[in-house]
Amino acid sequence: MDYNSEFRKSIDKPEEFWREKAGSIDWIQPPEAIWQATDNGHGKWFPDATLNTSDVALDANVRAGRGDQKALIYDSPVTGTKCSYTYTELTNEVARFAGALKARGINKGDVVIIYMPMIPEAAIAMLGCARIGAVHSVVFGGFAAHELAVRIDDAQPKAVITASCGIEVAKVIEYKPLVDKAIEQASHKPDFCVVYQRPQVKALMQDGRDYDWSDLMANAELADPVPVKATDPLYVLYTSGTTGKPKGVVRDNGGHAVALKYSMKLVYDANPGDVFWAASDVGWVVGHSYIVYAPLFAGCTTVLYEGKPVRTPDAGAFWRVVQEHGVNLLFTAPTAFRAVRKEDPEADHLSRYDINSLRQIFLAGERLDPPTYEWLKEHTQLPILDHWWQTETGWAICCNPVGIETMATKPGSATVPSPGYNVQVVDPRGSQVPAGEQGQIAVKLPLPPGCLVTVWGDDQRFQDSYLNPIPGFYSSGDGGFIDDDGYVFVMGRTDDVINVAGHRLSTGEMEEVVASHPAIAECCVVGAHDDMKGQVPLGLVLIKDGATIDHDELEEELVEMVRDKIGAIACFRRALVVERLPKTRSGKILRRVIRQIADGEEYAVPSTIDDPAILEEISEQFRH
Ligand code: COA
Ligand code: AMP
Repeated sequence: MDYNSEFRKSIDKPEEFWREKAGSIDWIQPPEAIWQATDNGHGKWFPDATLNTSDVALDANVRAGRGDQKALIYDSPVTGTKCSYTYTELTNEVARFAGALKARGINKGDVVIIYMPMIPEAAIAMLGCARIGAVHSVVFGGFAAHELAVRIDDAQPKAVITASCGIEVAKVIEYKPLVDKAIEQASHKPDFCVVYQRPQVKALMQDGRDYDWSDLMANAELADPVPVKATDPLYVLYTSGTTGKPKGVVRDNGGHAVALKYSMKLVYDANPGDVFWAASDVGWVVGHSYIVYAPLFAGCTTVLYEGKPVRTPDAGAFWRVVQEHGVNLLFTAPTAFRAVRKEDPEADHLSRYDINSLRQIFLAGERLDPPTYEWLKEHTQLPILDHWWQTETGWAICCNPVGIETMATKPGSATVPSPGYNVQVVDPRGSQVPAGEQGQIAVKLPLPPGCLVTVWGDDQRFQDSYLNPIPGFYSSGDGGFIDDDGYVFVMGRTDDVINVAGHRLSTGEMEEVVASHPAIAECCVVGAHDDMKGQVPLGLVLIKDGATIDHDELEEELVEMVRDKIGAIACFRRALVVERLPKTRSGKILRRVIRQIADGEEYAVPSTIDDPAILEEISEQFRH
């Protein structure tokens, strides 16, 4: 089938289309009904089916004869460890961990927070939850205790699973004290914690609340997969929105399995037995979808890498992993290759390795800048494929559909809408804008399977954030255009979300932290351009009348506060003291113009500005 007919069928006959795709999943009770609409234009996929996600990912592969094939390869340059699990071994580990959770009272529907570094136990914990129908919520290890506390209060977990430490290049980061602090700060108290003790650090345990991973595993029985409804939640993954409170994106079991399995062929052209490596972290959606679930649904071998593209030990790290494990498909964020290119501009390291196994390189998470695209293309001579998606969608909204038809690439474009996504560029009233003209990128409802079903515990926020802004559409928060050939160009967020080294962060959240400093009267945080990380946050602050504080000292304090409250991952390193902030006459801060000034771009003075002289003042400050 060619792309056009596949795409048309998905839009014109969605139920027939997804019924066919659903046929590739090992259901417990296969779906009769495919789609059940709800009043808001959203709805439920496969409402009468049952399955178990861990069964689809693991046991189904053993049944299909892949028991002895490697399911997961762990490669950790930061600890000098490598190991692998076959499908049979991983199934047993997961079943045992699921049994351990069950023995401690975790049942279907209970929430479990996972705050772990990139070790196999993180994936085992996720799949273990799925096996007994518990809902996992993985929190990225780079977030500070306060962020973890916010998520504990929102998700109300019965248990927290963690490890004694994470390892960042040469730095050991103790996780357990962060978990203890977060539980202390949170109003909700989980019943218990499970701690995986790593050799680098021995975590202190709290009697009666904390259990050692190894002790629980030693005494656990293997748990069978529990049937859950396709519409039951599999996980909650928090992502940054425009306010300080992160949004808990809820993913179901059935739509997720069908969509991700389909995406492995469509987007990545992956086949059973392929070695698939998503160089990301299980704390992000890329890690959920393409380190843990999708490669296993598709019978591939997934690589779980605990290291960086550079400094572990050098800019040849990615090429080494490709050679050593025979990686066929590599997926990461452009920032990773910008870091490699910065340290190894001529790709000298690449010549030390044989990367012949590699068929294509996939990039997402932020805009793929043409220089990075060209550098990768020139040095690897491989297809470099950009694709666009979000935590909310869980899989590519736009891609080069290489599994069915390879389309010509256009640098700067994520290519075409994936089947199932009726992507349109619209004005604020929801009217389509002409080809080539910029607007909001929106997806006409219904969304395909695999996308978020709601915001955890807050249907109204789901409605307000995604469905109400443009009636009849899912509002993506990204702006861009579609050209005459139907190629989609994603130009960036139209809200206060920024992308720092492929990590999605909220400037609103940073503003809340900065504003809580006693000397600050008002502030704003924008995402300024950064050659390596894409964007980095930049604060503009106004000091309260009468407050006397040295500006450098203030900046240091603010940097420390953001680090302490949000985490080092925010990369908040600059706060500039200004006399006034540019605002509209109605009092709205002109963030876009501030960002343009910070980046040294041309800017138009908005007609709504209260006092245009402020822009010149700020430009002058940036020049100094
Ligand atoms: N646990 C604890 N701290 C973490 C962490 C984790 N899992 N991940 C990052 N941090 C810390 C880092 O140690 C660093 O701390 P520092 O300020 O004390 O040095 C800070 O957070 C910023 O980290 P990072 O953004 O990773 O910057 P970096 O300079 O260490 O590395 C890159 C830059 C580009 C190499 C790195 O960001 C990278 O590999 N990015 C790949 C993109 C990616 O994985 N994106 C995920 C979505 S696809
Ligand atoms: P996240 O939810 O962390 O995956 O971040 C999603 C956001 O990253 C999107 O809304 C975009 O702003 C950005 N993004 C992801 N992939 C791309 C891409 N291929 N091109 C441009 N922006 C992207």
